[in-house]
Amino acid sequence: MTKIYGILAHPARHSLSPAIFNAAFLAEGINARYEVFDVESLEKFLKMLARGRKISRLENSSPGYICGLSVSLPYKESILKYLDEMSEDVRAIGACNTVKITDIQNSDGSAKKIASGFNTDWIGFIEALKEKIASVKELNVVVLGAGGAARAIVYGLIKEGAKVVVLNRTVEKAAKIAKDFENIRADGGTTEGNRADENNRATERDRAIESDRADIQFGALEELENFKCDVLVQATSVWLDEKEVDFVSEEYLQKNKPLVFDIVYKPLITPLLQSALNSGCKIITGDKMLLNQAVKQFEIWFDKKAPKEVMSKAMNTDH
Ligand code: ATR
Repeated sequence: MTKIYGILAHPARHSLSPAIFNAAFLAEGINARYEVFDVESLEKFLKMLARGRKISRLENSSPGYICGLSVSLPYKESILKYLDEMSEDVRAIGACNTVKITDIQNSDGSAKKIASGFNTDWIGFIEALKEKIASVKELNVVVLGAGGAARAIVYGLIKEGAKVVVLNRTVEKAAKIAKDFENIRADGGTTEGNRADENNRATERDRAIESDRADIQFGALEELENFKCDVLVQATSVWLDEKEVDFVSEEYLQKNKPLVFDIVYKPLITPLLQSALNSGCKIITGDKMLLNQAVKQFEIWFDKKAPKEVMSKAMNTDH
C-alpha cells in the first residue's frame, strides 16, 4: 500500500514540501505520496491517526497510511503532547517539525503505531551555514527573533560552540531562550543530564562542566548596534505581514561585514539580503535551510541518504 507523508500546517497552501518530497520519492522508487494536511483542528486530525484509520477517510486522499508528517506553523509546539516519544533536541527546543509513525508489535503479538518526534530545523540551519563557512565555533552570531524558528537556530548554534546574542522585539522571549539554553553544551547533551548521570559526584569534572555553559546573551532589536557580529541571522516572521525588516542598518552591515542568513525564502533575496549584498556581505538564502531540513527529514523517515540534488531541483522549479 502507498505510504502517505504530508505537511501538517495551517495555512499550508504555499508549501514547497510536496514538490520536494514527491520528486524524492519518484527518484528513489519509493511507493509513497506527499500531501498537504491543511487542518484547522490538530486534535481531530490526530484522533483519526491514532485510531490507525485509513487516510482515505480524509478528503482528497486515496488509500494509504500516514507514515510521517512534516509539522509547520502553528503546530510545532502543540504536536508535542500527542507524541509517544521525542528526541532530546525536541525536548530542549520545545518544538517538533518531524513525526515518524512506526508499527511496533506488542508482547502479545498485536500491532500498534507509535509516533516519534524529531526536530530537523536546527540541523537544516547548521548544514546550510556549513555550506558557506567551515565552523562557527567562537564566532559572534546575532540572531534576530525569539520565536519557534529562532529557538531551533539558537540551539544549533550553541551546539556548534558559537557565541550567541538573541535580540527580539519582546525582550522577555529572548531572555527565556538564554535561560532555557544556558546549560546546553557545545559537545551535545545538557549539563543537567550529565549531572544526573554522575550522581552528585562533586568532582573537578563537575566544575569544568559548570564553566562550560553556553555563551548566550539577549536584548532588544534596537540594541543590535552594541553587538559585534560575524554572522547575522534573520529569524523573525516579519515577512508574514509583508513588512520589511528595517531594524538592521546598512551602516551596521558595512562596519561588521557579517555573513547574513535570512531564513525567509519568499522572496529569495529579501530586503535585508539585498541590503547585505549592497554592503559587500556574503549571504545565505532561506531556501538552503528548508532544503537541508527536508533532507534530514527524508533520512529519518527512510533510514537512507536523501537525493539532495533532486530535492533541490524540485524546489527551484516547481513553484
Ligand atoms: P516562527 O516559528 O516563525 O519563529 P513565531 O514563533 O510566531 O514564528 O515567532 C515570530 C518571531 O518574529 C518572534 O520573534 C516575533 O517577535 P515577538 O516575540 O516580539 O512577537 C517576531 N516578529 C513578528 N513580527 C514582528 C515585527 N513586526 N517586528 C519585529 N519582530 C517581529
